[in-house]
Amino acid sequence: MKITVVGTGYVGLSTGVCLAEIGHHVVCIDIDERKIKNLLTGISPIYEPGLEELLTKNIQAGRLLFTTFHLEGLKAADIIIIAVGTPQGDDGGADLSYIEQAAKDIAEHLQHDAIVVIKSTVPVGTNDYIKKILEERSKKDITIKMVSNPEFLRQGSALNDTMHADRIIIGSDNEEAAKKVEEMYLPLQVPILFTTVRSAEMIKYASNAFLATKISYINEIANLCEAVGADVQDVVKGMGKDKRIGGAFLNPGIGYGGSCFPKDVKALLKTATIHGTHFSMLKETIAINENQQHLLVKKAIHRLGDLKGKKVAMLGLSFKPETDDMREAPSIKIARSLSQMGVNVVAYDPIATNNAKRVIGDIIQYANTAFEAVDGADTVFIVTEWEEFKQIDLRRLLQKMKEPIIFDGRNCYGIEKLKTCEALEYYPIGKPAVVIKNNNEKQ
Ligand SMILES: NC(=O)c1ccc[n+]([C@@H]2O[C@H](COP(=O)([O-])OP(=O)(O)OC[C@H]3O[C@@H](n4cnc5c(N)ncnc54)[C@H](O)[C@@H]3O)[C@@H](O)[C@H]2O)c1
Repeated sequence: MKITVVGTGYVGLSTGVCLAEIGHHVVCIDIDERKIKNLLTGISPIYEPGLEELLTKNIQAGRLLFTTFHLEGLKAADIIIIAVGTPQGDDGGADLSYIEQAAKDIAEHLQHDAIVVIKSTVPVGTNDYIKKILEERSKKDITIKMVSNPEFLRQGSALNDTMHADRIIIGSDNEEAAKKVEEMYLPLQVPILFTTVRSAEMIKYASNAFLATKISYINEIANLCEAVGADVQDVVKGMGKDKRIGGAFLNPGIGYGGSCFPKDVKALLKTATIHGTHFSMLKETIAINENQQHLLVKKAIHRLGDLKGKKVAMLGLSFKPETDDMREAPSIKIARSLSQMGVNVVAYDPIATNNAKRVIGDIIQYANTAFEAVDGADTVFIVTEWEEFKQIDLRRLLQKMKEPIIFDGRNCYGIEKLKTCEALEYYPIGKPAVVIKNNNEKQ
């Protein structure tokens, strides 16, 4: 099948590469010339495990092309997938300007009937709205059929999530178009659910808002655990054994971030408000998350007093491990708030430093290794749970610090690892602190 993907970011690129991998001929269009130039030579603009290998393989196999020219990119397409960004707008709702423009570009250059699939996350009703733009602006004899096909991949495991998705949602009011999109995905052998367009659009928001709420819920439980002296990790284990609850997505921490949860919760709240259903629970999900992102700073002030002039090492900058994405990363708020207090912040991230420099700028310093970051630090904040930090020689790390005090926002360390340290004060989330003094004799 011949497929054109419009928008070659985290979703569009992962989708394009995976569709080529299962045998389709894919052309990816993007307006970013530098991105396309790099992609043509097999260089991925994003860090995503396994992506560059599959990219190169499928370019060499002649199944994957990249272009900035719509006429060329659209000319043979059986299916056109739109995967451009839908960031948060000024009013909290989704900013649809990129998808509007993508639709206008498609309409202007399309020379034949086509199935247009919206993979971007869009508020209920957007497929109808985009169909109207396409129909109004394309040649009069062209027929366009719409399919809503929201994406559920997670950055950091995007390829695996695409190849082995839990489900594929195909929302269409046109049976023929739905069947064609089903045919496209058939080699993946993933369960497919057919719905109306509006239900498909809603499934995406309902899923993301639920997951975000699950995170805020467990973070509130974690805060309560700290107050009453319980251990949230035991609590989660106990809860997760209940099949009605399940253990997934119950990791307490310093809040959700990234390009999806924050904006999608707000966009769903906006939709609810527009339609007169207030959905106040989502307001709490957002408020809890805001609060949680300041937790490490609050804990540090509680323990160390005025932080002005102190040195804080931040380990991790990306919003989660295995990605270089800094969108809505909790590290941004932490860095800004520490910097405003006159704290000397030195940060290290295995992959996201360049992106972080663009977002956070020079209000903090950036180190090349975790050990360099903590050198002489009064305390360290673990912000992202990269495997590198989980596996790090903690004893050696702490020896470089002025004070061996850790505020761990991601509960990276178990008691066995902590016991290898000479001395430390360890403040996790939702669990009692661990204090070790003069442990030399045990080494
Ligand atoms: N990132 C995720 O983990 C994820 C997961 C599921 C769903 N989504 C949704 O998928 C959509 C895309 O997200 P993303 O993270 O891939 O975004 P992104 O910002 O990484 O990529 C968007 C791409 O679209 C390009 N673009 C913008 N306007 C264009 C146009 N008119 N024509 C062609 N290209 C254009 C941009 O240059 C960019 O390369 C969003 O709606 C998002 O909510 C994202």
